[in-house]
Amino acid sequence: MTKKFNRTLVTCALPYANGPVHIGHLAGVYVPADIYVRYLRMRGEDVLYVCGSDEHGVPITIKAQKEGCTPQDIVDRYHKIIKDSFTGLGINFDIYSRTSSKTHHKNAADYFRKLYDEGKFIEKVSEQYYDEETKTFLADRYITGTCPRCGADGAYGDQCEKCGATLSPDELINPKSALSGGELVKKETKHWYLPLDQYEKWLSEWILDGHKEWRSNVYGQCKSWIDGGLQPRAVSRDLNWGVPVPVEGSDGKVLYVWFDAPIGYISNTQELLPQSWEKWWKSEDTKLVHFIGKDNIVFHCIVFPSMLKADGSYILPDNVPANEFLNLEGDKISTSRGWAVWLHEYLEQFPGQEDVLRYVLTANAPETKDNDFSWKDFQARNNSELVAILGNFVNRAVVLTHKYFEGKVPADLKPEAVDAETLAQIKPLREAMEKYLEGYKFREALKEAMNIARLGNKYLTDTEPWKVAKTDMDRTASILNVSLQICASLAIAFEPFLPFSAEKLRSILNVGIVAGADHRAGEEGAVSENIYTAAEGAALHTGVAYEGLSLSWEDLGNASPLPAGHQLNQATLLFGKIEDEVVDAQIARLEAIRAEREAAAKAAEAAVVTPQKEECTFDDFGKMDIRTATVLEAERVPKTDKLLKLTIDTGIDKRVIVSGIAEQYSPEEMVGKQICILANLAPRKIRGIESKGMILMARQNDGKMRFITPQETLCNGAEIG
Ligand code: 2FM
Ligand code: ZN
Repeated sequence: MTKKFNRTLVTCALPYANGPVHIGHLAGVYVPADIYVRYLRMRGEDVLYVCGSDEHGVPITIKAQKEGCTPQDIVDRYHKIIKDSFTGLGINFDIYSRTSSKTHHKNAADYFRKLYDEGKFIEKVSEQYYDEETKTFLADRYITGTCPRCGADGAYGDQCEKCGATLSPDELINPKSALSGGELVKKETKHWYLPLDQYEKWLSEWILDGHKEWRSNVYGQCKSWIDGGLQPRAVSRDLNWGVPVPVEGSDGKVLYVWFDAPIGYISNTQELLPQSWEKWWKSEDTKLVHFIGKDNIVFHCIVFPSMLKADGSYILPDNVPANEFLNLEGDKISTSRGWAVWLHEYLEQFPGQEDVLRYVLTANAPETKDNDFSWKDFQARNNSELVAILGNFVNRAVVLTHKYFEGKVPADLKPEAVDAETLAQIKPLREAMEKYLEGYKFREALKEAMNIARLGNKYLTDTEPWKVAKTDMDRTASILNVSLQICASLAIAFEPFLPFSAEKLRSILNVGIVAGADHRAGEEGAVSENIYTAAEGAALHTGVAYEGLSLSWEDLGNASPLPAGHQLNQATLLFGKIEDEVVDAQIARLEAIRAEREAAAKAAEAAVVTPQKEECTFDDFGKMDIRTATVLEAERVPKTDKLLKLTIDTGIDKRVIVSGIAEQYSPEEMVGKQICILANLAPRKIRGIESKGMILMARQNDGKMRFITPQETLCNGAEIG
């Protein structure tokens, strides 16, 4: 049985305030959430829509350090950019606050303290890397060294950005402090851990048995975490930026950013609704939905619910409709490379075209798999869908009404079967939209909305009122009446997806819209720059009273929401064509980035990186017997990934050399290859095989090994020197 809820609390992942929001964030989290909220409000539901900036964590401190400013400077800058750009795209949270706020610091500290007092954490002392020079413990990101996988310098303690490997600081070769460049020591430090292992059974019942309806990507990730066995997770860090751990003797320690950030959802609700916030978080008839990207699944489905459960007084999410990733022109979005389309820049470059981006990101939403955004697709969807189908239909219907009926909705004077048949097709489309929207399938829902416009276009093309008008004005009146009723349905159906265009359309149709109110004015006691003033809040309400006719969701698919005689306003174009030059300029910008990256990669490959070794004498060199040889046979050494056993002809003899090249070369590739060997290297046993000599290889700084092969085939055993 589906549970009955009385209100819905929608949260969107709090974006890190160390960079602007890009299309990947939008497609993954914010556009789908906004569609959902707008839809529920149109259904008259009570919805609270909460977001804000995530302003703690190590990357923010690193950025500040690089720029020579404070972390607060960084988050102040990006909080404003992000907040304004969301508003620009019509994403109007009830509150967009920040985790550096006083309310949040207090709330997060109180949350920790309660669990601490109740003995819900375990305390553990462990050894962590410490920089003696700066006298600080170092987060994994602050440790750099050589990547053990690809050999690149400058790999971080948690990841190598060159080859993408996930690392731990202990794996780095020659780890150093990124702060001082100095050597590291290991030192003991105490931290608090949430014992997730103790929540495993409960999580398994709650998610794996109780939420089989969650998206398969979300459910699958949860299952693999739970099946893999959960470990206690540290909820504190040695860092000086964040919410200080509210326990004596914890100087220099803050709450781990992933502990405090989700509490930010609660803090922001409190900031907006100081008196009634608990109704949204502690009442079983509230439906809680977290919109996030797939990289946040573990935190929202495993860690945060365990924190809520540990406290015991909160509700749990009813659903976590996480999206996959959006790529850009076939490549992963990368903020450090500039491989992204930033929202604030889009809004500047495409004024008045906010809905085009919302449309393309929804039509292409990475709901079930990673998807791609390309500028050519953006242009095509605008020109051949928004302009040619939706805009064209509305424009034809309204312009013809002005031409023949002075802009007044004509009476349905001469109905025909096709009219009723056409209008009857809207209801099933609306029902499909409802099913999809309530099931978080926004792409499918958008398709159905577009099908209403397709229906209208086909109707006009089939009935040809511009021809009928030459002989039969009564029939023309009926055709335009039906067409305008379809326009009214479109003004309702597109409100969640394309709010700017739906509003424009309603203004052409001279109608308002009935929708549930939002909470943007906050309530008494809510004093914050993140909350709209009562006047602003009221003015921003989508349900603002309209003097005259207003449409509601229930009018979608009704036969005649627009009465005969209703006066329309002049037609204005809903969408404009996007020309080639516009998208070509965007593509050129990205191509320049790609070319630069390729050139840099080539230069890096070509560069000789390792410094020259110590001097040696001619005698030293003379001791080495280097010769040409040919591989006769090659096979993998069993139970190893790296080793090949090569039988070679050295010109002197046939012998076996074991070489660590199996990850790059298959046995088949090796047979027949002429190579160079160090013939007189003392024999040694490798995996029980006697290896006599060594194959000479060159290592570039991409980590790959290549053979030294004579340019022309030589006899085996030719001496090199
Ligand atoms: O991945 C991110 O961008 C995080 N800042 C999301 C945090 S969501 C929540 F927990 F606050
Ligand atoms: Zn690497």
